[in-house]
Amino acid sequence: MKSVTLLLGATAGAVFAFGATTANHPLKVDRKARKVTYAKDVAPILNERCVTCHRPGEVAPFSLIGYENARKWSGMTSAVAAKGVMPPWKAVHGFGEFRDENRLSDDQKEILKLWHDQGAPRGDRKKEPATPTFAGNEWTLGAPDMVLQSEKPFKLRAEGTDLYRNFVVHNDSTTPIYVNGIDIRPGNKKIVHHVITFLDGGHNGRRLEAKLADGQEGYTTSGGGVGFNPTGSLGGWAPGVRGRHTPDGTAFVVPAGTDFVLQIHYHPSGKPEEDQTKVGLYTSKEPPQKPIQLMWIFNFKVDIPAGEKEYKLRREFTIPADATMYTVMPHMHLLGKSMKSWLELPDGTTKPLVYVDDWDFNWQLNYVFKEPIHVPKGTKQIVEAVYDNSATNPRNPNNPPQRVTWGEATTDEMFLLIDAYTLDK
Ligand code: HEC
Repeated sequence: MKSVTLLLGATAGAVFAFGATTANHPLKVDRKARKVTYAKDVAPILNERCVTCHRPGEVAPFSLIGYENARKWSGMTSAVAAKGVMPPWKAVHGFGEFRDENRLSDDQKEILKLWHDQGAPRGDRKKEPATPTFAGNEWTLGAPDMVLQSEKPFKLRAEGTDLYRNFVVHNDSTTPIYVNGIDIRPGNKKIVHHVITFLDGGHNGRRLEAKLADGQEGYTTSGGGVGFNPTGSLGGWAPGVRGRHTPDGTAFVVPAGTDFVLQIHYHPSGKPEEDQTKVGLYTSKEPPQKPIQLMWIFNFKVDIPAGEKEYKLRREFTIPADATMYTVMPHMHLLGKSMKSWLELPDGTTKPLVYVDDWDFNWQLNYVFKEPIHVPKGTKQIVEAVYDNSATNPRNPNNPPQRVTWGEATTDEMFLLIDAYTLDK
């Protein structure tokens, strides 16, 4: 069986298999008596959890490969680990079960702290594990059947705020395209923060591009939106994401003549840079037994008073037919604090889907369930979100706080959760 898929949006996770680790040992050792070294204890953690992003040419600002780098950063590393800031995995452990979960156990956090406190000793360098090797920037699923990309590299200015650029790929095919795999190769990882592939059945992107006409391909939007309501999405890329096929018998159906809009979130590097990101699609000639569909659960009633610290919003939705769910992706903007979603089945049981209790707009992750979830007809899906519009929220874009309502700009707010599913019949 093919592995379960990345269906939509981005999921962060390590790209190599996890071996045996120091995780999950009970914390019964006397702190002072426990001696930890880089070779024995720390290198395995950094190699497994951090260096996918913290290595040359990747998104993180410095490398954590090798003893010298690890030693230099031991203080910061133990601090961000203790706070749960790194690795950037936002779903609360134990509420829902996911593939590629990248988080540190309490014991691993303790090891990083002890190591720093003990002066970051190296230990026996002959016992240091080999640095993991990574695939280069080639396709991980083999050559794709179609590649979506801009015609020319996009030139990004050196300085300034983040930029959302949307590249329109015209699709003049007269038959549907059945997409059963996607692999995204960011062109320049110094500036590409994340990528989402949207579908545009109404050719709105073409119009927006023609209207802007600023001398480069594509058009700019002021936040996570693409400037219109997309007719679908094929998925995305964020650091750590690998190419995936959809589950057996399933595929996305791209209707004839539907354009693709590649949205790239750029983060200027301080120097002028260029990027030409490629989206590889794997397709089948035959229509799938079960087309993958997306459920966009919105609540447009977002209206957050200035200064409100705990603004709560909820949406309940009854699933009208037997279905199978594969992924879930919460989405809010800067005031979002938490989002939680679960199922209430007709037999009275509940099933957790996802709980992000420390929302960070910078890490738009799509969570892939460890096992697809069977959802009987009549199941209720509940989504709850909390927003913080007080002056004490460091991410509040307004100073002093102002009333914030639904909108596409990053300084507006959203309440959105996207499920990817197939209908059983
Ligand atoms: C999915 C990619 C990714 C992984 C995995 C990851 N990091 Fe990071 N890290 C980043 C990025 C990107 C930044 C830059 C800050 C930002 O954009 O949030 C960063 C920043 C940092 C910083 C600087 C924080 C600051 O406040 O300046 C530290 C320290 C750090 N990471 C340590 C770690 C450690 C330790 C691990 C593993 C336990 C890890 N990271 C795993 C991507 C990653």
